[in-house]
Amino acid sequence: MLVAKKLSKTVTELHPNIYLIYGRNRSAHAYLIKGTHRNVLIDCCLPDARDHVVACLAELDLRPDDIDLLLLTHEHIDHAGCAPYFAHHALVGAHRLAANKLTVRDEFVLNNKAFNGIEREEFRLDLSLVEGTVINLGNYDLQVIHTPGHCSGAVCFFEPRHKLLFSGDVVMADGIVGGVLQSGNVSDYIDSLRKLSALRVEQIFPGHGKMSISGEADIEKAIARLEELLDESKMLFEAIQNSQLGFEHIVRSLRDLNR
Ligand SMILES: [Fe+2]
Repeated sequence: MLVAKKLSKTVTELHPNIYLIYGRNRSAHAYLIKGTHRNVLIDCCLPDARDHVVACLAELDLRPDDIDLLLLTHEHIDHAGCAPYFAHHALVGAHRLAANKLTVRDEFVLNNKAFNGIEREEFRLDLSLVEGTVINLGNYDLQVIHTPGHCSGAVCFFEPRHKLLFSGDVVMADGIVGGVLQSGNVSDYIDSLRKLSALRVEQIFPGHGKMSISGEADIEKAIARLEELLDESKMLFEAIQNSQLGFEHIVRSLRDLNR
């Protein structure tokens, strides 16, 4: 059961030593875990939210140098925007497919355009995460679950003792999904959600919107949404194909007329 303690307008303790840093102005949320051994920040908001994130950390008596590890759920700029700043203070990790896109600054997939082409400085990633990596914080473990679909390098971080899921844009409260963006696809998305379904998630801490205390049910809703999207995509492709066939027919007729 979620017993959240609102500490201020933008910081809420969701679980003992797990804090939500509320994302403002279209930014994703960030999460801070005060571990027994290490302090971990999951995602870090848009580049212009840097002062906001630093101020929220200060509310928790933490300076940027107190962050040991920044984990990115994926490469989109609303989640990874402040990574160049935190890279001066902490190790930074992302799935190897996200790390690759961030390293080569693949603007097509980083989604900068959706945020008025906002620029992000260059930075170096320290850790390439893969499925099954476990990060031991003492009081919590974080398992890396590779969940492509929204984009190819998306991961969720699963805490198995308390069945908590830090889900990025993969699944949100009420089964809302982040959509299929560049480098993503619907069938991988469905497969990823089915993998999450097997974890019996209790609480979802997503990249946007409200927290969920009905993890399992919301993941099932997300699967249903994606299956619907798959059907709609099929209809769309069929319609495009049919329209192309129709067009080709007209072109062929015109060609015949000009003979
Ligand atoms: Fe995203």
